[in-house]
Amino acid sequence: MKNPVNKMRLAIMASGRGSNAVNFMEYFGSHQRIEVALVVSNNPAAGVLDRAAEHGVGSRVLTAGDWGRKTEVLAFFADYAVDAIVLAGYMRLIPEWLIKKFPNRIFNIHPALLPDFGGKGMYGIHVHRAVIQSGVKRTGITIHLVNERYDEGPVLFQESIPVYPEDTPESLAVRVQRLEHLYYPRVVEEQLLGERGSKNEE
Ligand code: GRF
Repeated sequence: MKNPVNKMRLAIMASGRGSNAVNFMEYFGSHQRIEVALVVSNNPAAGVLDRAAEHGVGSRVLTAGDWGRKTEVLAFFADYAVDAIVLAGYMRLIPEWLIKKFPNRIFNIHPALLPDFGGKGMYGIHVHRAVIQSGVKRTGITIHLVNERYDEGPVLFQESIPVYPEDTPESLAVRVQRLEHLYYPRVVEEQLLGERGSKNEE
């Protein structure tokens, strides 16, 4: 039987201020079976690096150059014994070899109801602008697995909210982000604990 103290270890990858990363660090801060082991950013100026330090979580900047060194990057994730990766506003494409190394273990969240309002250029406030311009009556969040086809990995969870006539991209951003914070860690937790159950029986 595996040691129950062995927690599953998450790497959070983020490029910006990292409110979702903070939310994960808090949600799993005293969790029995999952912990945030590491924060990775491509941006040395990202606020998320300071947030990691405040929470006592290790962090590392991986530049475009670093990503060219596949063996070193994989060794780095192995050193931290990373079991799963959570993308939280990570503004760089994930290389195929990393996806292959973590099959069904890389999660992403998109601030709209995919397959609509996804793809190139659809991030941050651009998404909410497009939603308002389109005239749709509802928007929301999509949590999905990352696979080789960008933005097309299997959807795990969606939740929606109404778009009101008086909404602005900014007001939608605030309400959609509330949903992100409420659901993203829970959905990842559910996925990982389900998988872990079967892993323990090996
Ligand atoms: C989130 O809105 C998420 O939907 C998107 O990137 C944003 C990151 O925001 N993938 P934050 O840095 O976690 O506040």
